Amino acid sequence: MAQSLPRPALRPFLPADTPLLAAIFAAAVQDLTGDDYSEAQQEAWAAAAEDEETFGKKLASELTLIATLQNSPVGFASLKGPDHIEMLYVHPSLAGQGVGAMLCDALEKLAGARGTKNLTVDASDNAQEFFAKRGYEAKQRNTVTVNGEWLANTTMQKTLANGASPGDSK
Ligand SMILES: CC(C)(COP(=O)(O)OP(=O)(O)OC[C@H]1O[C@@H](n2cnc3c(N)ncnc32)[C@H](O)[C@@H]1OP(=O)(O)O)[C@@H](O)C(=O)NCCC(=O)NCCS
Repeated sequence: MAQSLPRPALRPFLPADTPLLAAIFAAAVQDLTGDDYSEAQQEAWAAAAEDEETFGKKLASELTLIATLQNSPVGFASLKGPDHIEMLYVHPSLAGQGVGAMLCDALEKLAGARGTKNLTVDASDNAQEFFAKRGYEAKQRNTVTVNGEWLANTTMQKTLANGASPGDSK
């Protein structure tokens, strides 16, 4: 039977979080995306966090939230500008236990409170169903180059109502 987790806490990103978040990023890509992307694509994607200084600067330039369990980061998500979810990564050892939904929920509420009507995300193929379940609709198929590899993703959009996230039950 699945163990139920204590509810993770959320807090803003601090520069000192960078090495752990880079490790969560790489582990999530390596362990959770293999059904949809080749090993070469996964390696190129995971390598985006290898330069920790650049990765940390990117996290600091966005509105980045961290989910923690017993004060340890287990996932993170970032909002770029007022209306785009840029990153959402959960450590594979805690996948499927509601951490991603909690982070996404928080970004939706923050964006909604700032007056954003339509929130977008360029969803990786493995995450498309996660976002579809939350009411995001596929708008456009994209291919992007990451460290020399072509990766497909889908721009998805959710309309936020009055700063809340409609249909969200968590
Ligand atoms: C996508 C990701 C963030 C989801 O995080 P998570 O903590 O495992 O998700 P949750 O446990 O909160 O899942 C919420 C719901 O989505 C569903 N879901 C999560 N991942 C899914 C997947 N890969 N395929 C289908 N459904 C999925 C869950 O079953 C759950 O459904 P329910 O509400 O009916 O129970 C995580 O799998 C991840 O880090 N993936 C690799 C990185 C990535 O692709 N990030 C997205 C970049 S845009």
